[in-house]
Amino acid sequence: MNKILDGKTVVLGISGSIAAYKMANVTSMLIKLGADVHVIMTKNALNFINPITFETLTNNKCLVDTFDRNFEFHVSHVSLGQKADVMLIAPASANIISKMANGIADDMLSTTALAATCKKIVAPAMNTHMYNNRITQDNIEKLKKYDFEVIDPVKGILACRDIGDGKLPDEETLVNHILRETACSKDLKGKKVLVTAGATMEAIDPVRYITNHSSGKMGYAIAKMAMLRGADVTLISGNSTEDIPPFVNFIKVKSAMDMFKAVKENYKEMDFIIKAAAVADYTPVNVSEEKIKKKDDDMFIKLKRTEDILKFLGENKLKNQIVCGFAMETSNLIENAKEKLKRKKADIIVANSLKEEGSGFKGDTNKVTFITEDDMKALDLMPKEEVAVKLIDELMDLKDKKEV
Ligand SMILES: Cc1cc2nc3c(=O)[nH]c(=O)nc-3n(C[C@H](O)[C@H](O)[C@H](O)COP(=O)(O)O)c2cc1C
Repeated sequence: MNKILDGKTVVLGISGSIAAYKMANVTSMLIKLGADVHVIMTKNALNFINPITFETLTNNKCLVDTFDRNFEFHVSHVSLGQKADVMLIAPASANIISKMANGIADDMLSTTALAATCKKIVAPAMNTHMYNNRITQDNIEKLKKYDFEVIDPVKGILACRDIGDGKLPDEETLVNHILRETACSKDLKGKKVLVTAGATMEAIDPVRYITNHSSGKMGYAIAKMAMLRGADVTLISGNSTEDIPPFVNFIKVKSAMDMFKAVKENYKEMDFIIKAAAVADYTPVNVSEEKIKKKDDDMFIKLKRTEDILKFLGENKLKNQIVCGFAMETSNLIENAKEKLKRKKADIIVANSLKEEGSGFKGDTNKVTFITEDDMKALDLMPKEEVAVKLIDELMDLKDKKEV
């Protein structure tokens, strides 16, 4: 998934803001993701960062002057505007926002923005008073009306030492907006996907708990890839140290019971439910309110069965809903997974063995087998994001078959 923007053209528009320096990093991140990046700067932006930086990173001429003839002949503001898959104007000064909102095209950046037919994303960055000025706010509203996507600035210490709204969000946020717009085909648009991930934690007392080794990586990768393919994703997560995928409805839970409740509240509206979480099968019968004191003899904790979330989903499946479970085994993987598929009334089980090298918990790779009622597909060892892509393909096929 490293080159997820392969074949995509991204136009970056940079205006005269102190935050312009951040765009060198954004450019570098986009190049690493495989994008063809073209940078347009306003004349005032040249005071903040040198175009050579962008030319070196992109291998493309950095455009500033609409009437520059010193490059291969074509009308750049039109051709770039047509070629672009997405245009990000960041940092967007109050001035460029005002110009774009009012159709002014008096430099290369504002002219290209007017000519571009692709999605345009704007990230305002300026002093708090400039940002809160009603004129700027009206201009931002106008841009939204004209289908620009606006990335809200964040609160922080600004270059002028004021504290407030107006700071350009970090580079990753800007890149995430571009990824959401351009990465992957949007074949899950209009679909709702529920993913559970991570490890549940079953309290023994206020200090101790029972958990497992799940990192949440597999589930988070599925949530991210489903989001990039256009789905409306809800991620219900137990313990995980993974970064929360952007643009997903994130619900944090602790115990198996919390997860069950969150799933019950959300499952009905879903097209796909993917249960990648490692949910505790047992939980302490009694949870001590006080820390249990250490004694010299052995300690026994009585455990009771938790709710079987996958079984609940299988038994309460709605028409055309696809339910996917995961099976992690140390022996008899395929037989156990086939039996789980039947017993839980799931549509598919993703089986992975803890004994297989590069597979299972924590790592970035997985080797899985998809098991359905009438088929079995063993995949090679691959990054978890690629497993996620293949799984989503498989789930789409299952849904298509169900809907015939
Ligand atoms: C040090 C400095 C920092 C500036 N930072 C910003 C800024 O973050 N946002 C902004 O809207 N204007 C900022 N300005 C003012 C703009 O550069 C100015 O309005 C300029 O005309 C914008 O031109 P442009 O939109 O064509 O790039 C700054 C000016 C200076 C001198």
